Order: sequence, then structure tokens, then C-alpha cells
Amino acid sequence: MIFARRSTTPSPAHAARLIGLGAYLPPKKVPNADFAARLDTTDEWIRTRIGIAERHIADPATATSDLAVEAGRRAMKSAQVEYVDAVILATATPDHHVPGTAPLVADQLGLPQVCAFDLGAGCSGFVYATTVAAGLIHAGTAGTVLVIGAEKMSAVVDPADRSTAPIFGDGAGAVVLTAGQADEPGALGPTAWGSEGKHADAICIPAGGSRRPSRTVDDLKNQYVHMKGNEVFRHAVRRITHVTQEAAAAAGWRIQDVDRLIVHQANARISAAVADALGIPPERVPANITHVGNTSAASIPLLLSHAAIDGRLKARQRVLVTSFGAGFTWAATTLLWPVDLQALV
Ligand code: COA
Repeated sequence: MIFARRSTTPSPAHAARLIGLGAYLPPKKVPNADFAARLDTTDEWIRTRIGIAERHIADPATATSDLAVEAGRRAMKSAQVEYVDAVILATATPDHHVPGTAPLVADQLGLPQVCAFDLGAGCSGFVYATTVAAGLIHAGTAGTVLVIGAEKMSAVVDPADRSTAPIFGDGAGAVVLTAGQADEPGALGPTAWGSEGKHADAICIPAGGSRRPSRTVDDLKNQYVHMKGNEVFRHAVRRITHVTQEAAAAAGWRIQDVDRLIVHQANARISAAVADALGIPPERVPANITHVGNTSAASIPLLLSHAAIDGRLKARQRVLVTSFGAGFTWAATTLLWPVDLQALV
């Protein structure tokens, strides 16, 4: 029998520190032309209104856990750790309703008895999950935590719906967090976050849950994502702008001190409007939506990985990470970019 072990002897820490980063995209790329060929849309509309040229789509045999395992493995290799005390998986597209997907992922990663659970907060899920992980570390409950954001959005998007199908992509990203000091590179700062459930129907899969079980539904369309895109857009700009200001203030940063603003990749126009409202120049706002689309909870760790690899994130930069998603939910936190972090993609 394998008994649970700990990565370190946990003791209350002052901060959680980023020590590993990895991402995985399924190999198949789908260009806008594929949508234009079968839906009433164009490559130009998708590029100019959303900012997407292509997205990665998993093959039918691949589940969210498969994407999560690949990203988790890379983050652990990046951190040079073989063990963590907990695995938190942020996802809106779990493999099954029951059981949670995180225990499957932990098992596949050779972590058969660790605490492992899913966290659902839509596109804000990854920032929510890192905040929960930081709390576990801060309290001394865990020494090292693997946080993964992974989505197979193609499993829940109606291929015939032009207002959602071109937007979403599949993928996964992950970080390893461990105990550290608040002023050292890699340290996460305080999180500002919130939710507003009265807008639940703005991004929603109406059927398949306890409210409306699938067996009582004869309309397949209600088992796909429904989105009031324009309403989401307006709320996203307002909430992301505000929560970013809150997180900066909580960390004692001025907005002009932010070296890099990492915005959830929902729509290039949302990121631009937020940057404009905050007075942050576009060159400080890395993006990868053009090549990956909106990957929901995977979006932020994917962008962190890509920006780290191409040199847009550098040691000791002040990074502000901010997100908005279904619920509505929103969350933002600060991060001092680590020294010598090798992201693996
Ligand atoms: N191709 C062509 N036309 C499209 C289209 C497409 N792919 N998708 C929608 N349209 C049409 C609409 O049907 C509408 O037509 P109508 O005026 O004849 O009714 C028109 O474009 C404008 O629709 P609207 O929803 O106002 O467009 P928009 O500029 O707000 O862009 C989104 C739509 C979805 C791209 C945009 O609202 C968005 O990105 N929202 C945020 C979505 C999101 O990020 N969700 C994830 C959670 S964060």
C-alpha cells in the first residue's frame, strides 16, 4: 500500500510562490475558414469582432482529463517536483458529472492518494483555484499544490451555432505553487474576486444538471452552451476593469506600476477596452487568443506559458492576472514574475 506523503513539512507561509508552469494544446488546429465553409460567418468577421484566426480542437477520444494530465506533467517537470500535496482542477467541462476529474488526473500523474478536487467558476476558474491553493499553503494545510485549468470546450459547443462555435478552443495549462515569502519573485499577491448569480443565464448549459436532467430533455440544443454574447461583453469589460483595480490596490500597486496585464482571452476587443479604461499601453498586455481562441479556465495558464516562452514575461516583472466568466464570476491577483522559471509547452 502507498501511504500519503507530503512534499514538504507544511507550516503557515506568508505567500504562495510560482515554481512551475506548463501547458498543452491538442495538435489539431481549426482555422476560421472551416466555420465560414459551413456557417453564416466569415474569416474576417471572426478576426475583427473576436480576434481569433484559429483554435486547437481535441479529437473525440480525448477528454479534459487527458489535456489536464499533459499540462500538469509539464508544470511538475518545470518545477522539478515529483510530488504535490493537492491537485486542484479548474474546469467547466469535466470528464463526467461524477466523479470529479481531478482524482483521475492525480492518479494519471502518479499522485494516487493526494487531495484532488474540481473547481467550477467558468473562465475565472483558474484564478479562483490558485487563490484556494494559496490559502491551503498559507494555512499550512499543503506545502505544494498543482493547479490546472483544462477544458474541452468543443464537447459543449453547438457546432451549428455561429455565435459560440468559432469562439471556443480546447487546451490546458498548469502551475505548481509552493510556500514562500510575499516579497520574493514568484509570490502571488492578494486576490480580489466576486460573483453575481443573477446573470447565470448569460452563459449557461441549460440542461444536463439537476435542474433539468438530460433524460427529460428532447432538445439537444439545450445541452450546449448558450451565450448572450453582447451582455457578457459589456459586463466583462466593466468587471475586469474594476477587479483589476481592486487587486492592484490590495497589493499596494499603482496601475502604472503593472508591467504585464494578463487578461482572460475571451475577445481581443474586451482586452483592448480594459487596457484602455485602465490606461495600460497595449504592449504591456500580452495575448494569444489569435491562435487558441477562448479556452475558458485554461486561458490564463496557457497565456502565461506562451508569454513566458516568447519573452514577454521576464523575471521580477509586476504581473496582474485578471478574469471574468460564467456565473458571472470574476477574479484578479498579482504576481511577481519568478526568476529562472522554465515554462514547458
Ligand atoms: N459571424 C457573423 N455574424 C455573427 C457571428 C458570427 N460568427 N456571431 C454573431 N453574429 C451576429 C449576430 O447574430 C448579430 O446579428 P444581428 O445584428 O443580425 O442580430 C450581430 O453579429 C451582432 O451581434 P452581437 O452579439 O451584438 O455582436 P458582438 O459584437 O457583441 O460580438 C461576440 C459577439 C460573442 C463575439 C461578443 O459579444 C463577445 O465576444 N462576447 C463575450 C463572449 C465571451 O467572452 N464569453 C466567454 C465568457 S468570458
